[in-house]
Amino acid sequence: MSARLASFFSAAVVLGVVVIAGGVSLAAAPELDYEVFKVHVEPVFLKKREGIARCYQCHVEANNAFSLQRLDPGQTGWSDAQSRLNYEMSSRLVIPGDSANSRMLIHPLAPEAGGDLFHSGGRQFKSQDDPDWLAWEDWVNGQ
Ligand code: HEC
Repeated sequence: MSARLASFFSAAVVLGVVVIAGGVSLAAAPELDYEVFKVHVEPVFLKKREGIARCYQCHVEANNAFSLQRLDPGQTGWSDAQSRLNYEMSSRLVIPGDSANSRMLIHPLAPEAGGDLFHSGGRQFKSQDDPDWLAWEDWVNGQ
């Protein structure tokens, strides 16, 4: 094999490895599991935290990106169809596999815990050890 041909082949091999590695890393981004969302993420939107309003109170049909479905009269939880819409809305505010850059997690988190400097709804999570926040993190990171 000539030197030129050999270097062509080795370049092709390197390129192939890069393409394959790229494909693998894309495939590794976790899916946002709907069932996990329904059981572990969504209920927190309705949960009353001490000394602070519930997400739902301010974010029901809100005109910002975090906009929750309105509960049907007399209902304390969402129907499956409504949960699907909450799931789609929430999915747009997170980056699968990258909880640290997921707006839904960072915006309501206290600044001293790594959250945004200001959220009109206050510091909903005082630390990243909050079990509800951890459940959201697991959902985003597919754990
Ligand atoms: C007292 C009212 C209030 C409560 C309670 C509240 N929020 Fe908010 N939130 C707001 C308002 C107003 C905004 C828009 C202005 C801003 O970004 O602060 C906002 C913005 C947001 C945004 C950014 C939306 C966008 O357009 O990018 C997210 C995400 C968010 N809130 C999540 C939450 C979560 C999660 C909870 C509950 C754990 C919560 N909020 C509780 C009032 C509230």
